[in-house]
Amino acid sequence: MGILRNTELLLDADVVYLNHAAVAPWPRRAVVAVQRFAETCGKRGAADYPRWLEVELRLRQRLARLINARSTDDIALVKNTSEALSMIAYGLQWRPGDNVVIFEGEFPSNRLVWESLTRYGVELREVPLRTEDRREAELLARCDRHTRLVSVSSVQYATGFRTDLQTIGEGCRRRKILFCVDAIQSLGAVPFDVEACGADFVAADGHKWMLGPEGLALLWCRPELRERLQLHELGWHMTDRPGDFEARQWRPSATATRFECGSPNLLAAHALEASLSLIEEIGVTQIYENILSITRYIMENAKSRFPEMELISPRAEDRRSGIVTLRPGDADPEALRRALLGCGVVCAARGGGLRFSPHFYNAPGEIDLALDALSRCRAR
Ligand SMILES: Cc1ncc(COP(=O)(O)O)c(C=O)c1O
Repeated sequence: MGILRNTELLLDADVVYLNHAAVAPWPRRAVVAVQRFAETCGKRGAADYPRWLEVELRLRQRLARLINARSTDDIALVKNTSEALSMIAYGLQWRPGDNVVIFEGEFPSNRLVWESLTRYGVELREVPLRTEDRREAELLARCDRHTRLVSVSSVQYATGFRTDLQTIGEGCRRRKILFCVDAIQSLGAVPFDVEACGADFVAADGHKWMLGPEGLALLWCRPELRERLQLHELGWHMTDRPGDFEARQWRPSATATRFECGSPNLLAAHALEASLSLIEEIGVTQIYENILSITRYIMENAKSRFPEMELISPRAEDRRSGIVTLRPGDADPEALRRALLGCGVVCAARGGGLRFSPHFYNAPGEIDLALDALSRCRAR
């Protein structure tokens, strides 16, 4: 794993990067792709635009393979997860008395937008996180005949809890409820399959486990539902005749590009396409194995070295992800995070604890360094 860090990333030698659940470093090949793109833009402007569109197509193909989508026609490239969720929430037509069901503790983007539907008389139901093993059943038990949509994170941002999407997907299908998945904390780290999990909508930005830049996200919508989402962002790019600027007769594109109103973010597309080529080369199955092994290493070593710290991430293997969060007793997590940063250890303060989120290339030696630094910071 350490070898990959040296060959595939450009991280400074004194940086231990354990913050992929926030914003990831770019791999070397993404840095090079952006440098080349910038040079071309400077020297030749957009003379090679058709080549850029080939990169964009390759990106759609990689994203389609990553989630097991049937076709690149189902992949829309949008600004971020929040925008994708908003397009879904405001694309659907609501009736007073409808309800939406989510878990408590969701990232704000997967709560605020549903909460905002109260203006249409829609109720938001937040299911408390009581158990780890029966969580999906508890969520489904909160659904009734007025439930129109369930929206969950595939992996919870604060604890790293991995949701059993298939159980929720099957439950939703049986009850004819739409199923929306915020997959930002999974894609690139944890295997994901839109068909197997029965999702109707999937949203995920590229700047976390996919190792891409901020500002370019995937929106996947089950093709049969595409026409049910009303469009609120209109422009030349989302029509069935995007190059025909004289056309007065037009329809929204039959493909998911109907969700892309104007000029694409080709700078970010070059970076994300390159980053995903690395993810594909290693393979998500292997990546997930590495992640499970390194997060296990963190859990075991933190437990023996800091028995007073409380692990709030799940221990069960099938519930784990790339996130390990530890509550540091009476210490302030944000102060500890800052102190760790001063020692070159990049992590986050989330869920009342310190959140470590290593990727496939992090080695046990780096974890030892991070825990040594934590020991020093706690002693201060
Ligand atoms: C679960 C989850 N959803 C959404 C977001 C926000 O995504 P975006 O900035 O792409 O809207 C985050 C960011 O941390 C997240 O963890």
